[in-house]
Amino acid sequence: MPIRTEFDVLRDLKSAARSAPTVHVLMATICHTLSQRLPNYNWVGFYMLDSQDQNTLVLGPFVGAATPHTRIPLNQGVCGAAVSEGKTIVVDDVNADPRYLACSIETKSEIVAPVYVRGKIVGELDIDSHVAARFKPEDRELVEQCANIVGEYLERKQG
Ligand code: SME
Repeated sequence: MPIRTEFDVLRDLKSAARSAPTVHVLMATICHTLSQRLPNYNWVGFYMLDSQDQNTLVLGPFVGAATPHTRIPLNQGVCGAAVSEGKTIVVDDVNADPRYLACSIETKSEIVAPVYVRGKIVGELDIDSHVAARFKPEDRELVEQCANIVGEYLERKQG
């Protein structure tokens, strides 16, 4: 994947963040942009912590196949682990990772990056690929920066 693509996508998403009317619209734009412009980003979506239950993630905007995992407790899944451990998780082979909760039998690899607001995790950006070991260091950088765009948007909105 040429670095140029990541650079252009980030520039466009930073611009989208300046005009997005709501964080929901911004997250949907990020999902559509990543799934359209990055090869084999087959499922792209956000999970956010439930405001009523900080131990559970709730599915937000996404692009890709419908998932049965609309609510994920923090002690389950790669998604739960990324929040519990407070770090980006890259799984090269989901079938070899006992934490993995299946969304599609086609999924081979996954990346999950937390969204931070003033140092506290509020949700995460989750991407699945039909290609094994799809997420390289430059993808990690891109996905983390996309998560940061959402965190910074929320910080601005909350004053
Ligand atoms: N694979 C995730 C669940 C979400 S679906 O992939 C969309 C996990 O293991 O937490």
